[in-house]
Amino acid sequence: MKFGIITLEASEGRISFFNMEISYYNLKIAIFSFAIIFVLRWTWRILNYVWFKPKKLEKQLRQQGLKGNSYKLLYGDMKEMKMMIEEATSKPINFSHDLIWPRINPFIHKTITNYGKNCFVWIGPKPAVLITEPKLIREVLTKNYVYHKARGSPLLKLAISGLAAHEKDKWATHRRILNPAFHFDKLKVTMILNEVLRLYTSVYAINRMVNTETKLGDLCLPSGVQLILATMLVHHDTEIWGDDAMEFMPERFSEGISKATKGQVVFFPFSWGPRICIGQNFAMLEAKMAMVMILKHYAFELSPSYAHAPHPLLLQPQYGAQLIMHKL
Ligand code: HEM
Repeated sequence: MKFGIITLEASEGRISFFNMEISYYNLKIAIFSFAIIFVLRWTWRILNYVWFKPKKLEKQLRQQGLKGNSYKLLYGDMKEMKMMIEEATSKPINFSHDLIWPRINPFIHKTITNYGKNCFVWIGPKPAVLITEPKLIREVLTKNYVYHKARGSPLLKLAISGLAAHEKDKWATHRRILNPAFHFDKLKVTMILNEVLRLYTSVYAINRMVNTETKLGDLCLPSGVQLILATMLVHHDTEIWGDDAMEFMPERFSEGISKATKGQVVFFPFSWGPRICIGQNFAMLEAKMAMVMILKHYAFELSPSYAHAPHPLLLQPQYGAQLIMHKL
């Protein structure tokens, strides 16, 4: 190349004015070409991210019979989703359990009403397919090396770190080290807490990412699609739990979880499979201890000032849970 010659000539003290001019000109062309390639590459990447890839994924999902809104540039369904959540959480609901899902996830509720359960929603430029079939939920949660956790906003990344954020071998190593610390063989699951976790599932949906084309049941999922395992929807499904699905009936767990679920993956408040919540026994023990300590000294009832308002992002009472305590 010319620059090579210049260096060589310069080192030998034979650099000519003409050569310098040609080389300076070539340098300018090279920088200009690099700049153009750089700009074109980034323009293509951005266009691909915000438009071409989402449209391609949309086509692939529709070809498989999945339904959802048409993609809207960059935001997808997020604007409507945000507005609907704000509207739904602006006031409490009647004290019934069947309005929880529409309150915390009004957009997905509307999408299912419009398109049926074989649907997808747009989380920005990424389509997320709703998965409610127990067989498929079992498959996704078992194959944790195939379906990775969906990466959320940068804020969420800061909040969720360590074991919960690791993938593949790093996750397996950390999980192996931590497992024994959380293992309580002797713990019995209480049916009351299970029924609370069924109706008021704190992690009401679990997200997974499809990173390579993957077959799931009859679907062929292209890379770049998200999956929403709609835990709460499955927990409330009358076809699974019977007509009394929306009743608070702890007795349904009197013979244990597998009897109540007939061995299907239809009750998974702590997720399921290899990535099941490592702290589930600890959380259950903690909840039981707190209940026992309160019940030892107090009877309690719900205060009339309580407003029923389950709130999204880890289900919680929006205005608190006011109780009237009676000292025993
Ligand atoms: C009622 C209380 C709790 C509920 C409902 C719950 C639920 C869950 C769920 C659904 C997941 C799976 C999330 C996913 O895969 O996307 C999870 C994972 C996890 N939970 Fe919990 N959790 C609870 C309490 C706890 C506690 C008390 C701890 C620790 C002291 C804990 C530590 C973890 C960790 C480290 C993971 C990630 C496990 C892995 O990826 O291998 N959780 N939890």
